[in-house]
Amino acid sequence: MQKIIIIGATSGIGRELARIYAAEGHLVGVTGRRRELLDSLRQEFPDHILTECFDATASDTPQYLTTLTNKLGGLDMLIYNAGWGDLTEELDWTVDKATVDINVNGFLAAIHFGWRHFVSQGHGHLVTISSIAANRGNRHSPAYSAGKAFQSTYFEGLHIKARKLGIPLYVSDIQPGFVATKMAKGPQFWVAPVDKAARQIVAAVRRKKWRAYITRRWWLVAKLARWMPDFIYHRIG
Ligand SMILES: NC(=O)c1ccc[n+]([C@@H]2O[C@H](COP(=O)([O-])OP(=O)(O)OC[C@H]3O[C@@H](n4cnc5c(N)ncnc54)[C@H](OP(=O)(O)O)[C@@H]3O)[C@@H](O)[C@H]2O)c1
Repeated sequence: MQKIIIIGATSGIGRELARIYAAEGHLVGVTGRRRELLDSLRQEFPDHILTECFDATASDTPQYLTTLTNKLGGLDMLIYNAGWGDLTEELDWTVDKATVDINVNGFLAAIHFGWRHFVSQGHGHLVTISSIAANRGNRHSPAYSAGKAFQSTYFEGLHIKARKLGIPLYVSDIQPGFVATKMAKGPQFWVAPVDKAARQIVAAVRRKKWRAYITRRWWLVAKLARWMPDFIYHRIG
């Protein structure tokens, strides 16, 4: 039985991940701002779900994570799933600021907490749900793709750092393509049902993959996006 925290588990991918892990018998600490959704998840799995309601962009995130870790009686895996973004054709300051707050600043605070905890206990697994958008700049939501690129690049650095430590500390950057939640915005294709995406995430994490694409076929999109010459990408992007 593992002790797992999922930050941002009130809806969508995070909620489905919590349901899978709880059904497998793990002890899962779930967070988010919508208390009623945390409570309904706990009612579904009263023996396997614990909750802590807080805004992951606020400065007291480490205190909430400490409280939740104590409630769980330890921590083996921390999943940063909280995220937000919106289309901003007019380059709206409030959208960009909120996007960076949750996808960069909130991410960094939570991951620092997890890293310190795992290094000091000598084992652990950090997971972030970034995005396929991390691979190139995107004119429809530039702060979102930049924030997700921050997560992915940061995680590659942590992956190398963890290997050098020589302890069982694992790092997984999960890059979903489109998943059928309210986060999927703009023109879409290959939209995965939430349960399928969550199952593939659990499988990739179990294999301790340092990076995985969800669903798997998005690997191709990531590679194409990365290797496409600028003069083509800037014309079609
Ligand atoms: N759906 C897609 O197509 C897609 C594709 C690639 C990547 N992703 C990424 O997958 C992750 C999950 O998204 P989703 O599609 O499942 O959408 P979602 O249903 O909107 O889930 C987002 C989760 O993040 C939490 N969250 C957002 N802002 C927060 C804040 N300030 N403090 C605490 N929690 C916060 C939300 O909880 P509260 O609102 O209750 O706080 C919610 O639980 C996100 O990081 C997203 O960027 C999604």
